[in-house]
Amino acid sequence: MNGRRLEKIEEGVPARAYAKLSWRARRVYREMTEGILRVVERYSPEVQRLRLLDVGTGPGILLSEILRGYEGEVELVVGIDCTRETFGECFKSYVRDGEFIQGNAYYLPFRDACFDVCISTGVLHALKWLERFFSEMVRVTRSGGLVIVYDPTPLSVTHEEARRVLSEEEYKLFEEVRKDGIVPETFEPEEIREVLGRCELGVSVRELKKERLGRLESRVLQVVMQKD
Ligand SMILES: C[S@@+](CC[C@H](N)C(=O)[O-])C[C@H]1O[C@@H](n2cnc3c(N)ncnc32)[C@H](O)[C@@H]1O
Repeated sequence: MNGRRLEKIEEGVPARAYAKLSWRARRVYREMTEGILRVVERYSPEVQRLRLLDVGTGPGILLSEILRGYEGEVELVVGIDCTRETFGECFKSYVRDGEFIQGNAYYLPFRDACFDVCISTGVLHALKWLERFFSEMVRVTRSGGLVIVYDPTPLSVTHEEARRVLSEEEYKLFEEVRKDGIVPETFEPEEIREVLGRCELGVSVRELKKERLGRLESRVLQVVMQKD
């Protein structure tokens, strides 16, 4: 059900409109960025030159906020997204030194252990094959590295905000997509615990909770795993 709904969002709202809405909702990305940077500092402070992957990156606004806030050196930043209408152009404008790859979270096109930190935000609720998603993220993360999955859903831009930032044509599409209450709930921590219990990932679960993040008013699902 969730997957079907996401497809509908992608068909309906073009990448450019999604990027505009996300840009409008920057405070969400700032809170997530602060959370992610705190987690990296707490569990993996030894990172020298960060190699970072964002799975389901969309237009890359989260990555751009992370790069702005991260104080260490960065070696590699990659965003991957499966959308047919590529986010690549938007991504390039937000993440100048990063690389955008069109690809699928279930088959990450990277060799094992090549990232220090693998993040994904706002994607989990739309997936059907959670085991595969988590195991691919863990596979491409090095030992001691982190997999950080946040799902701030539902947490959406209001119609008023959308009307302010979108063109008339884009707004019509936005309304069309939203009219049957499109934004689904994310999972509960117990559901994720059960999924993780089913797969042998070789990780320690550092955080698994659903609570407010910073000043956000909605509860955000937060999963932090460290590879053994
Ligand atoms: C709600 S958007 C979130 C985008 C971005 N992470 C953010 O926080 O703004 C969900 C994104 O996940 C991508 N996505 C969904 N399923 C995917 C999959 N199997 N592989 C790669 N990307 C996927 C969609 O194309 C979409 O860009």
